[in-house]
Amino acid sequence: MHFPWCEKKCPYCDFNSHTGEHDDRRYAEAILRELAVRGPAYQGRAPGLRSIFFGGGTPSLWAPAEVGRVIAALRDTFGLLPDAELTLEANPGTVHEGHFEAYALAGINRFSLGVQSFRDEELLALGRIHDADAAERGIKLAQGTGARVSFDLIYGLHGQSTADVIYSVERALSLRTDHLSAYTLTIEPDTLLGRRTKLGLYTPMDDDQQAELISLVAERLGGAGLVRYEVSNFARPGHESRHNLLYWHGGAYLGLGAGAHSYLPASDLSSAERREAVKLPADYLVAAEAGEFPSRFTERLDRRGLLKDRLMVALRTRFGLDPLALDQELNAGGVLARSLEEVAGAFLRQGWLARQGSHLVPTDLGFLYNDAIARRMMQVADEVA
Ligand SMILES: C[S@@+](CC[C@H](N)C(=O)[O-])C[C@H]1O[C@@H](n2cnc3c(N)ncnc32)[C@H](O)[C@@H]1O
Repeated sequence: MHFPWCEKKCPYCDFNSHTGEHDDRRYAEAILRELAVRGPAYQGRAPGLRSIFFGGGTPSLWAPAEVGRVIAALRDTFGLLPDAELTLEANPGTVHEGHFEAYALAGINRFSLGVQSFRDEELLALGRIHDADAAERGIKLAQGTGARVSFDLIYGLHGQSTADVIYSVERALSLRTDHLSAYTLTIEPDTLLGRRTKLGLYTPMDDDQQAELISLVAERLGGAGLVRYEVSNFARPGHESRHNLLYWHGGAYLGLGAGAHSYLPASDLSSAERREAVKLPADYLVAAEAGEFPSRFTERLDRRGLLKDRLMVALRTRFGLDPLALDQELNAGGVLARSLEEVAGAFLRQGWLARQGSHLVPTDLGFLYNDAIARRMMQVADEVA
């Protein structure tokens, strides 16, 4: 579920987020209409939803009552598995006492807070609307509801010292979180920061220094029991985000709202459809009210495309890839498994991958070269096809 509004646009953010007026009720109505039209194609695939994710933008600007209505409609349409994960992204600058309780009462059982840093000067540089104390207060309020709580950090900023990064990591750990996302700052061309970088007004941290910080952060978090289960995600075992895992394991998802992404693989995995909805909230609303749900982009993937997709994400997590299981799932008659093993050989020798039972899993070193591994694995799809 994409909620596309923010109080303020962050200078590094190229997500589909917009500032300005919005009408909570109107947006919920549009979503419910979209669900009624696009939902049926997803019905009957599973005994119920495994995850509902309210992302943004800043979904914590959406009135809890509207979030509750949407959850109820999803439950009526698809059913919910008893242990379904219902996550809401929240900006600590938008949430006050009682807010998190209201979301929890509406059915949310996991909060993901955009904290980014515990250093006020970094928060200022990142254009955030909250300071470090507000972030900490927000986390504690969310934890007080009994829901699972995760938060995001961004590091690898220009001029940031090792001590600065470790300060935020230690303060994060002092909050006894079971899940944490720690991203290195990506300079997206189509953002204020991207434009400032192009003009020479911002100098990104160099790759080697970032790589060093990545290892340091992973080591410190690992030492505190937060296992790196994906390139930028850390959790105590059993506390991984089910929603994230669904993406990385190639599961089907229905995206509702402006700019939302959907992915629908055929049950026999012979093909899949990928779609992105129109991005501008105003366009989305006007179309939805006319009963239309235009796409900005649709793509039909054949078996090769579907395989490429799976290979692109499979080695992002420490759960890795089981070549034989994937081969069987896709009915590839052993050819795929043999080719994957062949390609993996070099990565195993380099120490980028390791073997864990029947699975190939990335090592800490491998996490640094994830894109290179993914690119090589994806070539296998072409070779096999
Ligand atoms: C879609 S954002 C939603 C955050 C939420 N709206 C808020 O303001 O707190 C999800 C997360 O992606 C990360 N992120 C976004 N842009 C990034 C960038 N350019 N580089 C690194 N991390 C980024 C941030 O940590 C952010 O919290």
